[in-house]
Amino acid sequence: MSDLETRADIDRLLRHFYGRAMVDEVIGYLFTDVARLDLEEHLPQIGNFWEQVLLQRPVYVGQPIAAHVPLHQAATLRSAHFQRWFEIWASSVDELFTGEIATQAKQRAAIIAESMQYRLGVASPEAGFSEAYRAALGMPAHTDERQTPDAER
Ligand code: HEM
Repeated sequence: MSDLETRADIDRLLRHFYGRAMVDEVIGYLFTDVARLDLEEHLPQIGNFWEQVLLQRPVYVGQPIAAHVPLHQAATLRSAHFQRWFEIWASSVDELFTGEIATQAKQRAAIIAESMQYRLGVASPEAGFSEAYRAALGMPAHTDERQTPDAER
């Protein structure tokens, strides 16, 4: 496996991701029934976004967060939707690529997912974060050990 290095790599990742996301039990309906996404029309735009983010080429014109406002208004996005979105994204990346840019693809996605939820007013409680999401955000691995307050030791 090699790293995610070219626009062709991004397009391959996006096809893999949307192939899974659009038939997913948790979030599939948001793409198909709510947004009625025309994938062939949207892939170039979404590819431009990731090409700009990951390969630093200024090819994207748009407002990625604002693009989700109508979707949120129509269907009320929740933290669980974003967790599932990220799970499919991260596993798609891991299935196809390995390396620094592949790692960045997961890190940037988690950071953007967090800011998107913040901007949309979607609560994103840490208790619902997967380990992979925590790792992508640079948070320490979660342990079940409870912190005992000093007074109770
Ligand atoms: C619950 C999670 C998400 C769902 C259900 C979702 C769904 C969608 C849908 C339906 C569209 C098309 C909107 C339209 O009709 O124009 C869209 C566009 C897009 N999404 Fe998401 N999305 C999610 C999270 C994310 C995240 C976390 C990112 C980035 C890390 C992202 C990146 C994009 C981009 C770049 C576009 C294109 C924006 C444009 O048209 O310029 N999405 N998304």
